[in-house]
Amino acid sequence: MTPDLIKIRKDFPILDQNVNGKPLVYFDNAATSQRPQQVIDRINDFSLLINGNIHRATHFFANRTTEAFEGARETIRRFLNAGEPSEVIFTHGATESINLVAHSFGEAFINPDDEVIVTEMEHHANIVPWQMMCERRGAKIKVLPFGDDGVLQLELLDNMITSRTKILAVTHISNSLGTVNPIAEIISLAHRKNVPVLIDGAQAAPHFSIDVQTLDCDFYVFSGHKMYGPTGIGVLYGKRKWLDLMPPFLGGGEMIDRVTFVKTTYNEIPYKFEAGTPHYIGAIGLATAVEYLNNHDIASLNRYEHDLLEEASFKLKQIEGLRIYGEAPDKAGVISFNIEGIHPFDLGTLLDQLGIAVRTGRLCADPVMDHFGVENMVRASFAFYNTVQEIETFYMALIRLKAMF
Ligand code: ALA
Repeated sequence: MTPDLIKIRKDFPILDQNVNGKPLVYFDNAATSQRPQQVIDRINDFSLLINGNIHRATHFFANRTTEAFEGARETIRRFLNAGEPSEVIFTHGATESINLVAHSFGEAFINPDDEVIVTEMEHHANIVPWQMMCERRGAKIKVLPFGDDGVLQLELLDNMITSRTKILAVTHISNSLGTVNPIAEIISLAHRKNVPVLIDGAQAAPHFSIDVQTLDCDFYVFSGHKMYGPTGIGVLYGKRKWLDLMPPFLGGGEMIDRVTFVKTTYNEIPYKFEAGTPHYIGAIGLATAVEYLNNHDIASLNRYEHDLLEEASFKLKQIEGLRIYGEAPDKAGVISFNIEGIHPFDLGTLLDQLGIAVRTGRLCADPVMDHFGVENMVRASFAFYNTVQEIETFYMALIRLKAMF
């Protein structure tokens, strides 16, 4: 069933405006999505009427924000089907979540000559924290490659995992290629060799219902701002068996049990990993975004986004000299491409003049650029509030711009 786009678009007032004199076409959802009025209202309510620091006082405001913050944790627990709320840690985003795991898992479990496996299609946030940790611990990174179609070469994985492999980190959906990776298969293969798995869900959480218990992943991370929530808030799901054994990442208030100058003891999870005042208004806003998604049929939103992808791919393939990067059979609403003879930055700037927002550049994924031997790409990425008419506008704009060059 096609979503009720008139109703949905009314929930996102930002979409209803002109940019450079043209109706806005917002196709940069993989970078950041827009927020529905419901999320904005809830953030405003807490900023205007009920602000008080959480977990630290007994007054009315503090109690209300503490309840709402812990309620948000429970909402995220249900969204992920985590076994318990303590396995849900609020961070500043997927990047911080991965840094937390790389740091703390590394301190606890990685020794010299150990190995960490990542894939060639990761964005920088799922590469650099592991490299930094490996440098500190004397360990090394191994990279699972993908083919030119944008599909991971999974047949290589079994041999790549050795007795020294301590963790595997892989994206659920590639931000540049749109590939939806078979993470259940990857997790089960890694677990057969006792290797825990971190899933970077930054691009997947906005589109899918996630079930971390069925997947049996060890860690799952995502950001609020890519899934219709606020910036500066994210989630780390981790199995208790790992989180209990991992040392804290940041030190400060809340993560402690007792502080003396001789020795400090630490709090239980999740608080052990939530040093300082958390972005509680962000967490409450994120939970509202999840409730917004839950009020729709997430599977049918995802099918609709897939229809948009199919329509856009069909249209773009008709443009001579346009190359799409990543054509995996299982693909999410992301199309990265270049048009022969037009610099991607020129294309992005000219599309902007026509009111069309796309991303240009290296897509936070240098190894993907290197794989295809290009400096930059243009990327269009879709959300359930986009329309077939917008794709037509985009296609016609590309035809017009191509004719100019
Ligand atoms: N990683 C984000 C993107 O794909 C910023 O655009």
